[in-house]
Amino acid sequence: MHYGGDYYPEQWDPAIWREDIERMQEAGVTMVTVGVFAWARIQPREGEFDWRWLDEVLDLLHDAGIAVDLATATASPPPWATTAYPQMLPRDHEGVVYSPGSRQHYAPTSPDYRRLAADLVTVMAARYAQHPAVQMWHVNNEYGCHLHYDYSENAERAFRRWLEAKYRDIDTLNSAWGTVFWSQSFGSFDDVPLPRRAPYIHNPAAELDFRRFTSDALLELFVMERDILRDAGATQPITTNFMGAFPAADYWRWAQEVDIISDDTYPDPNDPAAYLDSAFTRDLMRSLRPGQPWLVMEQATEAANSRLTNAPKAPGQAEALSMQSVGRGADGILFFQWRQSRRGAEKFHSAMLPHAGTDTRIWREVVHLGETLRSLPELPAGPSGARIALVFRWDSWWASSSPDLPTIVDYERHVRTWHGAAQQLHLPVDLVRGDEDLSRYDLVIAPSLFLVDDRTAAALQRYVEAGGHLVVTAFSDVVDADCAFRDGGFTVALREVLGVETLEFGALVPAGGGHGPGLDAVTVRTPFGDLGGHTAAEVIRLRGAEVIGRFVDGREAGAPALTRHAFGDGHADYLATIPDAPAARAILESLSEHRAIAPLLEGEPVSFVDVSRRGDHVTIVNHGVTDVEVPISGTDISTGQPVTQVRLQPFEWAIIRTEGETR
Ligand code: GLA
Repeated sequence: MHYGGDYYPEQWDPAIWREDIERMQEAGVTMVTVGVFAWARIQPREGEFDWRWLDEVLDLLHDAGIAVDLATATASPPPWATTAYPQMLPRDHEGVVYSPGSRQHYAPTSPDYRRLAADLVTVMAARYAQHPAVQMWHVNNEYGCHLHYDYSENAERAFRRWLEAKYRDIDTLNSAWGTVFWSQSFGSFDDVPLPRRAPYIHNPAAELDFRRFTSDALLELFVMERDILRDAGATQPITTNFMGAFPAADYWRWAQEVDIISDDTYPDPNDPAAYLDSAFTRDLMRSLRPGQPWLVMEQATEAANSRLTNAPKAPGQAEALSMQSVGRGADGILFFQWRQSRRGAEKFHSAMLPHAGTDTRIWREVVHLGETLRSLPELPAGPSGARIALVFRWDSWWASSSPDLPTIVDYERHVRTWHGAAQQLHLPVDLVRGDEDLSRYDLVIAPSLFLVDDRTAAALQRYVEAGGHLVVTAFSDVVDADCAFRDGGFTVALREVLGVETLEFGALVPAGGGHGPGLDAVTVRTPFGDLGGHTAAEVIRLRGAEVIGRFVDGREAGAPALTRHAFGDGHADYLATIPDAPAARAILESLSEHRAIAPLLEGEPVSFVDVSRRGDHVTIVNHGVTDVEVPISGTDISTGQPVTQVRLQPFEWAIIRTEGETR
């Protein structure tokens, strides 16, 4: 179990380094990330490197038994680089150049940036690949975090080459994108524009490819640095820090390229339900590489400094959220940052060692968390015990974010709604792509899977045929991988499985607009209660499915809204609207009973209690503000005593070794 944070020795006098290391030892720090923003300090001018300070820092840390996650420092190019090569700066969609003076001011496709980054990493790798302090490599930092999309000329050139590699000839692109519409047919790849500011909306197929390209272009940077490190003989695991459900990078693809998943997490302490959001991103990280532990690379001990108001974490909350991550497979808890800065844009950001010093609540909590993590036994990596899978797909997210849809579909929020409902019922959930083997799940939910490619359709079909239970909701199976309608209407790829066909999308006005029932929200009557829906009330035609629920209001009052279709040995449900949180919960309650999926805790679900499983170890965290009592049988690993229930104060946690099922 690693413990530590980002360490910026370059911000401090060397005399402070020694004090830092003593304090790190006091706090039980085992690993620090060094060098994330040190490019200018390492390379003051092109061709000139100063490694002395970093040599000294690495040696000091090593002598103190503290491992280093060495960053490649490429996230913030130094001023000389942009002065010499201004064409490496990125542009926004209006063509405005982003200025240096902050960070991440580089176009990911810029040949100058790539060359300079490669030069730096080559020299760094040669110097430190064998250094005993270096236990991990941290490539760049939060790829794309501020600039999701770059519209520079470099990007345009690279996009064209990416398209050429994908489509080979321009007529294939013309046909896939449907460029005959609005006179957009291209004569050559060099005619293809970036989706910059235009008089009206862009071709959605072009937008979708631009997003795919951007994720790939960022990933190419990671792979470039990783390969330089490997070629220099580095054998340590190589990572880059993810950002949860980050919209601009398809982490399913990225997860194949890193050695270990690491993630940054900043839930808003002002939001009592934020623990559900962080449960979602923790489960996502766990699911990206099933069965392999991952790391929390960054989180705040107290306040962040990127929100309009930056609430502090309450006493004990940093530990509660850390244990939520541990319960979901994290084998390391690191913070941004070790010592609070005295200058610069993030000087208000909290740290393990606050500006106010060691006689502070934060420092005491940091020391306590270090002791806690040290005292944990080795925890099995998995399995999570999830019998429910939730499909989460970047390509479908991108396709359903375009501005030309019948209504605004908040895909990520919709997926989170299902995940949150499952967490409130203490039902563990894995995130899946939907095109893999799903046979170990009793229930698979595909919320608003707008884009369904052939491979995913086939996998979902196989899953149901073999006895699975699939739930699909409104705005699913609308377009294919080219963002085009399929022949034969909507819900074509999954029609055989679902036994329904969508005829109209029945857009509702955005919720909260005061338009009233039937216009901004609908009710679906089912044998297990009334369900609330929003965003759409689709008109569907039965193609073999039976009706379980009907709309009771709105344009479609009386029409089918929830259906079930027996297909092969399994069943597929279709919900012709987007459920609100109570509706998702009611459906999950009904289906988990039907499929005999037991929650991780016996009895009634307990509010604000988060439960997760790593093999036979169940982690329970109370994220609420009142004491709770939770029934669970096993051995409390903190006391070694058998228990049949645990009592937890606000932000308290327990890990119970159970003898229950561990699949
Ligand atoms: C991100 C970055 C860090 C820092 C923190 C502040 O996670 O990676 O460099 O800016 O945010 O919350």
